[in-house]
Amino acid sequence: MEDRDRPAPAPARPAPAPPGLRERAHAELAAARARTAGLTDAVSDPDLTAQHSPLMSPLVWDLAHIGNQEELWLLRRVEGREAMRPEIDPLYDAFQHPRSERPGLPLLGPAEARRYAAEVRGRVLDLLERTPLEGTPLLDGGFAFGMIAQHEQQHDETMLITHQLRSGPPVLAAPDPGAPWDPPPAPEVLVPGGVFTMGTSTEPWALDNERPAHPRETEPFFIDTVPVTNAAFQAFIEDGGYAEPRWWAAEGWEQVHRHGIGAPLFWHQEGGQWLRRRFGVVEPVPPEEPVLHVSWYEADAWARWAGRRLPTEAEWEKAARHRPETGRSARYPWGDAEPTPDLANLGQRHLRPARAGSYPAGASALGVRQLIGDVWEWTASDFLPYPGFRAFPYREYSEVFFGAAHKVLRGGSFAVAPAACRGTFRNWDLPVRRQIFSGFRTARDV
Ligand code: AVJ
Ligand code: FE
Repeated sequence: MEDRDRPAPAPARPAPAPPGLRERAHAELAAARARTAGLTDAVSDPDLTAQHSPLMSPLVWDLAHIGNQEELWLLRRVEGREAMRPEIDPLYDAFQHPRSERPGLPLLGPAEARRYAAEVRGRVLDLLERTPLEGTPLLDGGFAFGMIAQHEQQHDETMLITHQLRSGPPVLAAPDPGAPWDPPPAPEVLVPGGVFTMGTSTEPWALDNERPAHPRETEPFFIDTVPVTNAAFQAFIEDGGYAEPRWWAAEGWEQVHRHGIGAPLFWHQEGGQWLRRRFGVVEPVPPEEPVLHVSWYEADAWARWAGRRLPTEAEWEKAARHRPETGRSARYPWGDAEPTPDLANLGQRHLRPARAGSYPAGASALGVRQLIGDVWEWTASDFLPYPGFRAFPYREYSEVFFGAAHKVLRGGSFAVAPAACRGTFRNWDLPVRRQIFSGFRTARDV
């Protein structure tokens, strides 16, 4: 039996790990925490505990939930420690309380939540120094550390959505993109038919739903070179698109009428001009920027109006990853190298997408631009498991969401961290959702 009073053994020598892996995990955890601090330090304590929208948790819930998941996976599952505060687990289990109920729970206050998350992090960094990064599925390639860094970054995007929904003067600031731009050579790109490799079996921090790599066949198709812009979306509004049932799926038409929807979320008209509210600033809608804050139904209706359709998830991934010259699938549109600021608008460096046609250096082998970053792109596809899918490390990450209720989004937005974004990454949401950083591009059959 274990003797709990025994003095702690002298720290073991750090176990071997692929060069740089420990440093990478450390850097990604630190980057996530710096972003969390920025998003939570930007507002007062009452603002942290307030609910800014019934769709979202109070920011203080996300903060402690981040710490709680980190404790659960790294300190309890990997290290084998006891729960630090077992009584708080149910409060931060996303499946026990819907978001709308969370403000009524006896949550940790802002100071306590910060202290808890910091205490967990201190122990995690200590663990990262000593633990081997191989030998079990959770440790191989540093997976559990990468999963937790991605989880925190995903909640940082969620918290940024809460900031966007919050009313009041702006509290966040970032420079405008000013990204490299040149005119796209053509409005659409032909993607050849045939088999390509979808998903991954080798990306060490890929989540369960991205696995395994498998062959997928597509017909040839055309796909937009850039995402659909505000100007193009405005043309649909001005053509009476929201009043024309033939463009709309039945449930989308119903939502438009129930809620009186006539433009993307956060838009309003004043003296004939379209304005939008963006993180507390009201400004004219920029015509050349990819449209943001549209539901799947709005994206689908626009595509039908334009005589086009949304790409399937497989088509999107083929356009992003397929290298016709080798037949291989790359990690990103531009190749296998990690994202840099001249390749994609990621990581909340900016608080908006870059104008359509930006980042020519980040184009795919076939010439499709801005697939990674800027706006999440709705696809035509339901969120379903790949052939050979196995839930790992928990069913509640992906498996319980599989089915026709959720549509897949691809590519990541300006609010997605590089660590939580790649050509294989899959996001999903209900087709009515529009507070998320969602846009789209369209496709057509040849
Ligand atoms: C993958 C973005 C849909 O935020 O609901 C966070 C990610 N899962 N905590 C979400 C997630 C558990 C998830 N999405
Ligand atoms: Fe979570």
